[in-house]
Amino acid sequence: MTAPPTILVFDSGLGGLTVLREIVGARPDAHYAYVADDAFFPYGHHGEDEIIARVVPLIGELIAAHTPDLVVIACNTASTLVMSHLRERYQVPFVGTVPAIKPACASSKTRRVSVLGTRGTVKREYTRALIRDFAQGCDVTLVGSADLASLAERALSGEAVSDRAIAAELAPCFIGTGASDPHRTDTVVLACTHYPLLMDRLVRLAPWPVDWVDPAPAIARRVSELLGPPGRADHTGAEMIFTSKRPHTLSQALMPFFGGRVPA
Ligand code: DGL
Repeated sequence: MTAPPTILVFDSGLGGLTVLREIVGARPDAHYAYVADDAFFPYGHHGEDEIIARVVPLIGELIAAHTPDLVVIACNTASTLVMSHLRERYQVPFVGTVPAIKPACASSKTRRVSVLGTRGTVKREYTRALIRDFAQGCDVTLVGSADLASLAERALSGEAVSDRAIAAELAPCFIGTGASDPHRTDTVVLACTHYPLLMDRLVRLAPWPVDWVDPAPAIARRVSELLGPPGRADHTGAEMIFTSKRPHTLSQALMPFFGGRVPA
């Protein structure tokens, strides 16, 4: 029997768990190493050169330590900068996470789409190029959120986060006068992997219903394609690594993201 593949999933914090959850669903046969670079969180507050200088060598160390068959950069703030550097430097296949502007613009009926990401992601030339190439005539509003990723981390860690704080980060995404305005925003791209952690609250706090576009299912399909046909689904275990080396006390809360495995 061949060994199960190891998939390394990397983010600045806990946001990449929303991508991991989909990959685990698609590939229960794999072994998972989830790495949260919490020592450097939030990436959205760092400059571009700093992120490249941090992530590229760190991924090299993680590849040496875990010998993964595939690496997923489950972070828009990093992927919009580092993918070409990683592919140049390391042999292992990489899958990144970038704002899902193309499918969002293809499906918007009002032709008005918002992209909600970190301040870093919405500033990137990479993101601007996606809009130039794939807006398909839609009016695209870029919304850089300073705090939503941190609010999501806090909520997942069991801290109280007020509706008011979340609604304030969300408000600039909603252009228009209300649900009956034919020119209102009808689609919001979740361009930060942390945001789906707050999905129930985003839906509840939105001034009117919109389609929320989360790229995680598409990423999971891509990972599965690259790995080839699945082996026997035997839940081969999972590891959770924090770069700060803080002891993690979240195992119970994190289990659903790992498909029921208890991350070591
Ligand atoms: N989860 C990361 C992303 O997808 C960003 C959070 C951070 O600022 O570190 O962009």
